[in-house]
Amino acid sequence: MSDKMARLKIDGIEEEIVLPVYSGSTGPVVIDIRKLVNEGVFTYDPGFLSTASCESEITYIDGEAGVLLHRGYPIEQLAEKSNFLETSYLLLNGELPSPEEMNDFENSIRYHTMVDESIHQFLLGFPRTAHPMAMLCGVVSALSAFYHDDLDIEKDDHRLLAAHRVIAKMPTLAAMCYKHGIGQPSMYPLNPLGLAENFLRMMFGTPCEEYKASPILANALDTLFLLHADHEQNASTSTVRLASSSGSNPYACIASGIAALWGPAHGGANEAVLDMLGEIGDESRISEFIGRAKDKHDPFRLMGFGHRVYKNYDPRATVIRGICDEVLDELGVGNDPLFRIAKRLEKIALEDDYFIERKLFPNVDFYSGIILKAIGIPTSMFTVIFAMGRTPGWIAHWHEMLSEPYRIGRPRQLYTGKTHRDYPA
Ligand code: CMC
Repeated sequence: MSDKMARLKIDGIEEEIVLPVYSGSTGPVVIDIRKLVNEGVFTYDPGFLSTASCESEITYIDGEAGVLLHRGYPIEQLAEKSNFLETSYLLLNGELPSPEEMNDFENSIRYHTMVDESIHQFLLGFPRTAHPMAMLCGVVSALSAFYHDDLDIEKDDHRLLAAHRVIAKMPTLAAMCYKHGIGQPSMYPLNPLGLAENFLRMMFGTPCEEYKASPILANALDTLFLLHADHEQNASTSTVRLASSSGSNPYACIASGIAALWGPAHGGANEAVLDMLGEIGDESRISEFIGRAKDKHDPFRLMGFGHRVYKNYDPRATVIRGICDEVLDELGVGNDPLFRIAKRLEKIALEDDYFIERKLFPNVDFYSGIILKAIGIPTSMFTVIFAMGRTPGWIAHWHEMLSEPYRIGRPRQLYTGKTHRDYPA
């Protein structure tokens, strides 16, 4: 696969170091630096801006061009023609399913939606005020206690079963965390329903009366899950891979991904968007906040704007923007002050030189926060929804990594601390 060579000359090292250069099926060339360590040299790349941590066939992103492909299919086409479960199958298996394969996959997901009853008891140990991400992290990790001894991660069929289980159980667990927080009984999944519809029922239904989700809202949520399903080696997926590289239990590894997702620079951004809109409070204060975002001495950033990889419009944001309008129309809340602030903010930022020059476009979290708020999902559950959407991506990367020979992830460092010194006598 190496078709070129890179030559590295380091002052003080006599021999030139020759490194293979690889070309992927598309995207930038990659210098293979693995043998540098034999020369006593490390590379330094905090934040991994220039580092490919693995080889993968799942997702391709061209941030400059605003392209996102899953197994080659553009996200816009998947959002229009596919659905969350079919896209999950695609991520996991590499190809779109035949009708029979899809039927089997859906049945398997339905079959695994329930969780062990003791998970209910486990949740009772959390304070009601706990953040749902704290609870989700705990209950997903707890699944490892139920599925460990008979799980052989070296076997393909065991890995696929674990993947189906975690995709199927995540909506049940997410809704259980919410219900615990508000003191209502958990709703069991109702398997004839589609995944998003089932989730809405487990969130908003009670055992006392029938709940019927609006098909427009269920579809919007399904597309939102699909748009979050994978995003190559982002912080949470890389965390899942790193945790998995030691051969750990997959549910514990997914819990580590949930922990990485929680922060406001990653999955927590949709929650931060709504907090920010609430803080702005009134259209008259938008320019004050835009001014703060531009001020180098103020740590404030416009939440929901900018992306580490997309330096063009995020293709997911284009899709979700349309869904956002549909949902606001369906619910008749477009004139709500919060949504008006969001729309004004989007317009101003898109026209402002500071944001244009830095290519800071509204990202997927800007719109997903608005949609979720309109559907009635509380802000603290936003990142949980992101985690549900990202689960197929995490587990597909885990499955891919374990399908090939792999090594434990072990980065090195540029040490700048004290050198050897003796303990005082
Ligand atoms: N508001 C104001 N200025 C910003 C923002 C923002 N949201 N984002 C970046 N900048 C400025 C930054 O100050 C810097 O300016 P200068 O060049 O003058 O110093 C320039 O843009 C480049 O910023 P950076 O920090 O080098 O960009 P990054 O690629 O390291 O950070 C980011 C990407 C997403 C962490 C950042 O844009 C951000 O904090 N955005 C707000 C949080 C957010 O919406 N996060 C969700 C990301 S999408 C979901 C996901 O995939 O997880």
